[in-house]
Amino acid sequence: MTIVSLTSAPATTLDVDALIIGITAEARKHVDGPPALPDDVRREVDRMLEQVGASGKLGEITRIPSEGLVRAPMIVAVGLGDMRILDTEKVRRTAGAAVRSLAGLRSAGIVVTSPDAPRIEAIVTGALLGNYAFHDFRGVSAGAQSAPLERILITGSPRDAEQRAALERARIVSEAVCLARDLVNTPPSALSPEDVAHAAIDAVDRLPVRVEVWDETGLAELGCGGILGVGQGSANAPRLVRLEYSPRGARRTLAIVGKGITFDTGGISIKPAQNMDHMKADMSGAAAVIAAMNAIARLRLPVRVVGWVPTAENMPGGRAQRPGDILTTYGGHTVEVLNTDAEGRLILADALEMAAEESPDLIVDAATLTGAQSVALGKRTSGVMGRPDAARDGVWEASRRAGELMWPMPIPEELRPSLDSPVADIANIGERMGGMMTGAAFLADFVPEDIPWVHLDIAGPAYNDGSSYGYTPKGGTGAAVRTFIQVATDMAEGTLP
Ligand code: BES
Ligand code: ZN
Ligand code: ZN
Repeated sequence: MTIVSLTSAPATTLDVDALIIGITAEARKHVDGPPALPDDVRREVDRMLEQVGASGKLGEITRIPSEGLVRAPMIVAVGLGDMRILDTEKVRRTAGAAVRSLAGLRSAGIVVTSPDAPRIEAIVTGALLGNYAFHDFRGVSAGAQSAPLERILITGSPRDAEQRAALERARIVSEAVCLARDLVNTPPSALSPEDVAHAAIDAVDRLPVRVEVWDETGLAELGCGGILGVGQGSANAPRLVRLEYSPRGARRTLAIVGKGITFDTGGISIKPAQNMDHMKADMSGAAAVIAAMNAIARLRLPVRVVGWVPTAENMPGGRAQRPGDILTTYGGHTVEVLNTDAEGRLILADALEMAAEESPDLIVDAATLTGAQSVALGKRTSGVMGRPDAARDGVWEASRRAGELMWPMPIPEELRPSLDSPVADIANIGERMGGMMTGAAFLADFVPEDIPWVHLDIAGPAYNDGSSYGYTPKGGTGAAVRTFIQVATDMAEGTLP
């Protein structure tokens, strides 16, 4: 685990492998304000940066030798672009990009100008998220991998309680995001539904969170036909996990639900071979719930939170469910399974019904539900749907503050008839156009109208199959973790729903 701490020592004296400074596009100068670098050092650094053509454009990384100007042997200038639009997310991203570029070194110092609590929080978050690496399954190539930084020093005021709290909060949140990334990156051979349940138990070990796990027998007793139907084609039996964090005095309850398909072959309606490996990320919603429960409990947020993780492996096999099968969910809805690849909604149906039965003040689910999400909003922007509009917009607003890209989408009422089945209460596929919204329209049947419910389709954003950028690595991204935590925080503060 990376050690990150605040230091009041002058930046010039930091005993680190590299000193990170921010530079702006206008003046090609690094940002002013105490406790930055002394004037003479600054002028010299500016001159050297100019010599090597650093432009200060957003995200640009320039390394120069420090030539004794500071104790660190290397200075790394990261471009902040136009300083007039230095928003929090930009700070996170540039801190992330700078730290990621230093993999292989042991330690770095980050020179923070005008360090206040929000700035510290953004820098720590960006730095820790950018410092992530997943090497658990390297064999002979393990030695050739650049390890992330072990130690990050941040210039600020260690005696300032607000700054310390900001650092602590950022650390807890970032570690949770990295836990979710680990779970997503873990190959499906090493993460069965049973393993997901164990991961949930481990994640809240020694935290005030109660965990309950239902196995196949337990699920049958509950009548969770959705989870059982999806799981029945696999040798790895499904599970349902319930995590409850119930601090004394909490007045409101948030339920978070995450799709936990440990691998989605599509089942009998099998997927094409190309990119099927990405379907190891089909448990990203579950990973987000597990990780968020860890962070929420560590942060001791004064709100009751119940996490629901339905988890199964969607495989074709001699016992697999068939297109045309009809299953019955926990709440007694019958579903005609027309396409076994629309399995996420089947396991969520049971979990949403169970979550709703406890009458929480708000339900938020996260799921890699549809390929249509990426068609509609691209690979980096999750869809936010739900009802009433105010709940959806409140969660959307929380996601923005948390630094996650999302956009609201409607659940048009004309989509529901497309899900009508001639033989059951509902079919699991309907209108193809706007398929992300059709997915939401399906889920809506399983949540009573009087419970505010928001659905996050994170299909694209959960897994980065392009190059790394900002603080986002390749592979699992930890999507929805920060939004879940922010929603819990907002509910604790009474601003949501
Ligand atoms: N897990 C997939 C959705 C997905 C696709 C996530 C690509 C990430 C990247 C989901 O279970 C699925 O297969 N959905 C189907 C639904 C359809 C059959 C209505 C889809 O999107 O094609
Ligand atoms: Zn599927
Ligand atoms: Zn799926």
